[in-house]
Amino acid sequence: MPSSGGQKKMKQIYVPPETGKFMFCLFFIFLSYCHVCFSELSSNQTSTMIELSRLLNISDWNLPGSERNPCSWKGVMCSRPNNGSVISLSLSGFDLSNSSFLPLVCQIETLETLDVSKNILSLIPDEFVTKCETLVGLKHLNFSRNNISSSPSFQDFSKLEVLDFSYNFLSGKTGDYGLDRLVQLRSLNLSFNMFTGSVPIYLSRSLEKLEVSDNLLSGTIPEGIEDYKELKLLDLSDNQLTGSIPSSLGNLSKLESLLLSNNDLSGSIPESLSSIQTLGRFAANSNHFTGDIPSGITRYLANLDLSFNNLKGSIPGDLLSPLKLVSVDLSSNQFVEWMPQSISPSLVRLRLGSNKLSGTVPSDAFESLQNLTYLEMDNNHLTGHIPPAFGNLVSLTLLNLAMNEFTGTLPPFGNLTRLQVIKLQENKLTGEIPDDIKLLSNLLTLNVSWNSLSGSIPPSLTQLKKLSTMNLQDNNLNGSIPENIGDLEDLIELQLGQNRLSGEIPAPDSLISLTQLILSNNQLTGSTPRFTRNVLVNVSGNPGIKPIKEDKVSIKRSSSGKRKLVLVLITVAIGVSALVAGIITVIVLKPSRRFKGVNNVQVDPDEEGSTVLPEIIHGKLLTSNSLHKSNINFAKAVEAVARPENALYQTMFWSYYRVVMPSGSSYFIKKLNSRDRIFQLACSEQLELELEMLGKLHHTNVMVPLAYVLYSEGCLLVYDFPHMLTLYDVLHNHTSAVVDWTSRFSIAVGIAQGISYLHGSQSSGRDPILLPDLSSKKIILKSLNEPLVGDIELFKVIDPSKSNSSLSAVAGTIGYIPPEYAYTMRVTMAGNVYSFGVILLELLTGRPAVSEGRELAKWVQSHSSQQEQRNNILDLRVSKTSTVATKQMLRVLSVALACIDISPGARPKMKTVLRMLTRL
Ligand SMILES: *[C@@H]1O[C@H](CO)[C@@H](O)[C@H](O)[C@H]1NC(C)=O
Ligand SMILES: *[C@@H]1O[C@H](CO)[C@@H](O)[C@H](O)[C@H]1NC(C)=O
Ligand SMILES: *[C@@H]1O[C@H](CO)[C@@H](O)[C@H](O)[C@H]1NC(C)=O
Ligand SMILES: *[C@@H]1O[C@H](CO)[C@@H](O)[C@H](O)[C@H]1NC(C)=O
Repeated sequence: MPSSGGQKKMKQIYVPPETGKFMFCLFFIFLSYCHVCFSELSSNQTSTMIELSRLLNISDWNLPGSERNPCSWKGVMCSRPNNGSVISLSLSGFDLSNSSFLPLVCQIETLETLDVSKNILSLIPDEFVTKCETLVGLKHLNFSRNNISSSPSFQDFSKLEVLDFSYNFLSGKTGDYGLDRLVQLRSLNLSFNMFTGSVPIYLSRSLEKLEVSDNLLSGTIPEGIEDYKELKLLDLSDNQLTGSIPSSLGNLSKLESLLLSNNDLSGSIPESLSSIQTLGRFAANSNHFTGDIPSGITRYLANLDLSFNNLKGSIPGDLLSPLKLVSVDLSSNQFVEWMPQSISPSLVRLRLGSNKLSGTVPSDAFESLQNLTYLEMDNNHLTGHIPPAFGNLVSLTLLNLAMNEFTGTLPPFGNLTRLQVIKLQENKLTGEIPDDIKLLSNLLTLNVSWNSLSGSIPPSLTQLKKLSTMNLQDNNLNGSIPENIGDLEDLIELQLGQNRLSGEIPAPDSLISLTQLILSNNQLTGSTPRFTRNVLVNVSGNPGIKPIKEDKVSIKRSSSGKRKLVLVLITVAIGVSALVAGIITVIVLKPSRRFKGVNNVQVDPDEEGSTVLPEIIHGKLLTSNSLHKSNINFAKAVEAVARPENALYQTMFWSYYRVVMPSGSSYFIKKLNSRDRIFQLACSEQLELELEMLGKLHHTNVMVPLAYVLYSEGCLLVYDFPHMLTLYDVLHNHTSAVVDWTSRFSIAVGIAQGISYLHGSQSSGRDPILLPDLSSKKIILKSLNEPLVGDIELFKVIDPSKSNSSLSAVAGTIGYIPPEYAYTMRVTMAGNVYSFGVILLELLTGRPAVSEGRELAKWVQSHSSQQEQRNNILDLRVSKTSTVATKQMLRVLSVALACIDISPGARPKMKTVLRMLTRL
């Protein structure tokens, strides 16, 4: 327990002698309010805590009886062994927006740690500093992940050891905050703010961690930085630093991590760094470094990232051999020669793609690398055979040797049972696809296109049940397509074009996930495969096949019989490994046909004549609006959806209709495509309960159902807003006029409000409502500045755990799916924030979430590391109209970038996002 001046003061005034305590108790018993006598805390601290709990209104703190012992409250820690005083207060993630409680906290004189991270505080009041001067024991302060843009100087917190201000909106120079007076400081985190000026070198010499990444710091890395002799972590990444790395950094003999990524640094990598024995991680990627890699740089390292620079010369012979090495990334440089003859058995990840490496790869170096999991050497000029030793890399999940000049046959695959992604396209490989490829039972992507492979497609290939992309295009393959190709139920893309395949096309209609089937330029016969949903089929250049018009979509009428569920799978297949390796295999869909689809609708002749209407089981109004009550007619709704020509379009889960009720008012109706096991609640009583719950929601930016109908063929939801215009249509339909920035900004804020409302808060008393398929197509516009978040029912209706494996790899629309989904397979709030970030990017850039096979989020990430690049990302048609607009757009871009952070934990909560936007 700290024995401080403050403590003495407290004793003098407040800790009464035994009799005093007795009197004190009597007084409270008299008020039948005796928490103080049960608590081990001093009466003073107990009352402070109770005052705090009233002010903050934290539900966990107000449980009946809990007022007796504040030490048992969530986030409160008291001194051991007898809970005599409060020493640590963690109010992290309590949704606090008002910082007026902060000065009160300072009455707890024994406080050592205060954590108010993950709230929505926007400022630190001056009284916090003036009142807290007495807190001589305060060592840890955590303000991380708030909206703080204003803070007083911290110079009087002289005992402070840890200060975390990361993820806020602080600006100005770091020197403005009195940090130089914090002589005990060991850890300072100012990352993700808007600090300008240079890297601070006036701080405490005891500093062990200095993190200032993602700011606007400029100038060079100062020589003086070597005076922080205790430094273990130095993170200067994502700033605008120029100049070279001072070689004096090599004197930081305790340094463990040196992170300089995403700056404008140049010059060569100093050899002195190789003398730091503690240095385990060095990242200097995405700068302008030139010259050769100095020898010995990896001597002590586990992780080295020098990707995206202009380094040249050869990859040094000793670079890959050190025994602690785990990951090396040299991709996108100018390396020409491969020297290493030995590679550390500990290596997990090796990335050498997009260099100018030529010559052969020594097989011996790759003998017995039991841990190598990701290997990329694509886009080089490598020649010779694929080293046979690759066949023994038993941990390999990703092998990318695409775009080289490799000759010879495919490597023996038999031992590579963990492989998920094989990319060998655009080489000069010959020979047959070996039968042992069937052993790769985890394979998701097989791309051997643009080679000279011959022989037939081994029928055993159809045993690869997880395969989602198979691209054998442009080879010399002959024979027929394996009869049981239909077994590959997870297949999304099948590319067999430009070969010499012959024979009849086998029935592919069991390929329920397929979005692309390319069989062009072969000698196939038979008829063009037909699907009941939107699949891109190309059979051109096969003289034996009579082509039909590719573009037709047929929406079959639902009949109670054996009709197979129409599922347009919007699917992305991402291997966990591929994700970690930063490689995401995206299969791009043609944009859905929207309203145009109506014109193409074909009515199945055999169903045309049926007039018997299905039976209504139960219909219920959810709205209390009397106008809707008198307008909505369930029988009319059921009748209307029975006519396929009324369908506007279909998505994976719904068919959409516009229905004119007998009163003359039109409504919008969604019909659930509910014939699949992924629907946990497909049209059941439980669904009714959920819908009634949803019907109670009320928010101007959320599209809430007005009524539902369960009937013998499924269920329908009825909505207002018959003139459906989606954000996607408005932004990306070239016939629409350009939407100005003011409208785009209101749309952004409106969507953020809607999602924020759906996610709810502790006080909303319900579980968060998540959006499994959030995209600009799910945002309905009431007007050009009033968006509605649609499809809120989906989360209640589908159950990804019941789905087959391809569906479980599926939630949402390509381009909006958060990267972590590949391994979590869970729809989360952070995932929604990611999807929202992509919508923000659409508003900012005017580009769709996926274009030309590229995800917008990835594109923006790779073009926004430098501030000056950011202007070029914006939709010029809008940004050029005013500098004010441009400025605001750049700020929104920062918010969007935070939302699409690769790490879900680093993304702000939706409430915070909303705050960030409204404060602009
Ligand atoms: C607790 O003690 C501090 C310091 O002596 C004093 O300023 C404060 O008013 C006291 N609080 C209460 C509730 O008595
Ligand atoms: C101190 O408080 C904690 C949390 O309520 C409780 O678990 C512990 O038993 C208390 N210790 C004493 C000695 O009262
Ligand atoms: C501050 O809080 C954040 C969020 O809760 C946490 O990630 C971070 O590690 C904390 N900082 C320190 C220095 O403990
Ligand atoms: C396969 O390779 C071709 C040719 O390089 C490329 O266009 C296609 O995008 C690749 N597909 C996958 C899924 O890697």
